[in-house]
Amino acid sequence: ALPSSVRIVEVGPRDGLQNEAGPVIATDIKVALINRLAAAGVSHIEAASFVSPKWVPQMGDAAAVMAGITRHDGVAYAALTPNLRGVEGAIESGADEVAIFTAASESFTRKNINCSIAESLERFVPVVEAAKRNNIRIRGYVSTVLGCPYEGDIDPSQVAAVSRELLDMGCYEISLGDTIGVGTPVRARKMLARVANEVPINQLAAHFHDTYGQALANLYAVLQDGISVIDSSVAGLGGCPYASGASGNVASEDVVYMLEGLGIKTGIDLKELAATGNWITQQLGRNNGSKVGLALGCS
Ligand code: HMG
Ligand code: MG
Repeated sequence: ALPSSVRIVEVGPRDGLQNEAGPVIATDIKVALINRLAAAGVSHIEAASFVSPKWVPQMGDAAAVMAGITRHDGVAYAALTPNLRGVEGAIESGADEVAIFTAASESFTRKNINCSIAESLERFVPVVEAAKRNNIRIRGYVSTVLGCPYEGDIDPSQVAAVSRELLDMGCYEISLGDTIGVGTPVRARKMLARVANEVPINQLAAHFHDTYGQALANLYAVLQDGISVIDSSVAGLGGCPYASGASGNVASEDVVYMLEGLGIKTGIDLKELAATGNWITQQLGRNNGSKVGLALGCS
């Protein structure tokens, strides 16, 4: 059965903008994007990333972005934190939630955060302790759940094992990342079934990139298995530096349109969201990656 409502986690300001080529996007634009998303009814926004600016220059102004946001009641503002330094910055900035991130593939973990999966989990221990001390919720990401740019197919048991470790550390939710968007519906369901043996389905989220145009189909598939939290990016912003031709996350507008058609509530005003998508793509000088955004043509 399909859920009656879905929580959308808008990751555009983080996953969408982190790989943007060219000059660093002005802090004001990032802040305006986050404020517009909140005004459109998005209740969960990944706003920034407290990672090394040497690794991800676009997120180097995380503290300024967090300071610039006009906080809306009922909106959770989250930040990505790879280590203790990151979580300290996020706490200082008033983040409502932090996210730790690792992968189901050793090679991807090495390229992304420069350590092994086991080392990443060790590194998260003080991160989680600091967040807990400050009553901040912790979300966990597992990348490459349906394929890795270096290792190819990934064993669902490996996804399940890493997800379970993150849950046991204290993450309230584990977001399953099809980082390079290679998944297809039946494989997505098989992977999810294996992970759901270790982590309750209501503590799992789908984080699907749309590189191969499969993300909506994959989401429709896993919605039928009880997934009710979906990560998406307005205008489909994003891309992955480690995968050629990669597009961004599934577009939030496309997800909301599909969910509305299924009678599933999101609390988001689609027209406002589409207008925000058109606005940010104009700011970035990009094409809009949302079909629904283009069709609605809002500005
Ligand atoms: P490292 O080089 O192994 O470690 O990086 P380090 O401790 O030597 O740090 C390198 C430099 O960064 C040092 O500066 C540190 O001080 C500084 P230097 O001494 O050379 O001047 N540094 C920091 N600066 C600011 N904030 C920090 C911080 N930590 C260190 N928190 C590290 C290890 C983990 C730091 C690095 O690899 C890193 O930042 N990686 C982040 C990569 C990233 O953000 N990737 C994208 C997000 S994950 C993703 O997109 C997937 C997801 O969407 C799900 C999916 O789609 O699958 C979540
Ligand atoms: Mg991602």
